[in-house]
Amino acid sequence: MGKLDGRVVVITGAARGQGEQEARLFAAEGARVVLGDVLDEPGRAVAKDLGEERAAYVHLDVTREEEWAAAVAAAKERFGRVDGLVNNAGIVRFNELVSTPLDEFQSLVQVNQTGCFLGIRAVAPEIVAAGGGTIVNTSSYTGMTGMAGVGAYTATKHAVLGLTRVAALELAAGGVRVNAICPGAIDTAMSNLEGVDPAATAELYRTRVPLGRIGRPEEVASLALFLTSEDSSYITGQPFVIDGGWLAGVSLF
Ligand SMILES: NC(=O)c1ccc[n+]([C@@H]2O[C@H](COP(=O)([O-])OP(=O)(O)OC[C@H]3O[C@@H](n4cnc5c(N)ncnc54)[C@H](O)[C@@H]3O)[C@@H](O)[C@H]2O)c1
Repeated sequence: MGKLDGRVVVITGAARGQGEQEARLFAAEGARVVLGDVLDEPGRAVAKDLGEERAAYVHLDVTREEEWAAAVAAAKERFGRVDGLVNNAGIVRFNELVSTPLDEFQSLVQVNQTGCFLGIRAVAPEIVAAGGGTIVNTSSYTGMTGMAGVGAYTATKHAVLGLTRVAALELAAGGVRVNAICPGAIDTAMSNLEGVDPAATAELYRTRVPLGRIGRPEEVASLALFLTSEDSSYITGQPFVIDGGWLAGVSLF
């Protein structure tokens, strides 16, 4: 018996990183997963690896309403229903606020915030129609506190928590639980920046993160599984920080 037997879950940004690990873990726990991304080749390869009976890939740019409608239709056609969503797709840009071009700010809002809203709007009615289920939104530890140098990103990740809370309130009667994941530094393409010395980055995490290391995408996937499964049946509307203790407080030594 898997923790997600019988469930059908749409996961955005599932071609790599945390979304890929979520798709792999959910499939291993019995779910059928619909992987959406704009990186078609790697996305298709992950779905193929999971097998036709377990997984389907759809091209899904989360900023586009019509692609959400098509993804939901494809999921229903392939697996009959949809009762779960993980809004995981996201982008980051590094800039101080006063140097951030408007189009950069707006593109972060479009993907991280509008994409999450469109996902809730497109999928929640399907989950209600299926008799209830779950939505997990991917915020960040920058959804809980400020982080210099990623102001636009931080703003969108705060917004994701607002969306999470309101969606939880509005969808509870329909049997939909909505929670958010707030990862700290996780070892994916997003955090491995070109031109940055990996040894220096490892040293940064060793000294700054109480648990002494960067997080693994598989560890985030485990939290997403908890929030998608019945193990979290009385939890809704909440942010869950998974950051190796980074936000716990200030260490003097
Ligand atoms: N890596 C970290 O340190 C970290 C920390 C906190 C939060 N997060 C969040 O976790 C989530 C997953 O990021 P990751 O670490 O796996 O990074 P990643 O860059 O490996 O994965 C992000 C995925 O989202 C996809 N994506 C980007 N724009 C898209 C769009 N418009 N439509 C559909 N898919 C799109 C990318 O193609 C990619 O597959 C993101 O929301 C990110 O903001 C990451």
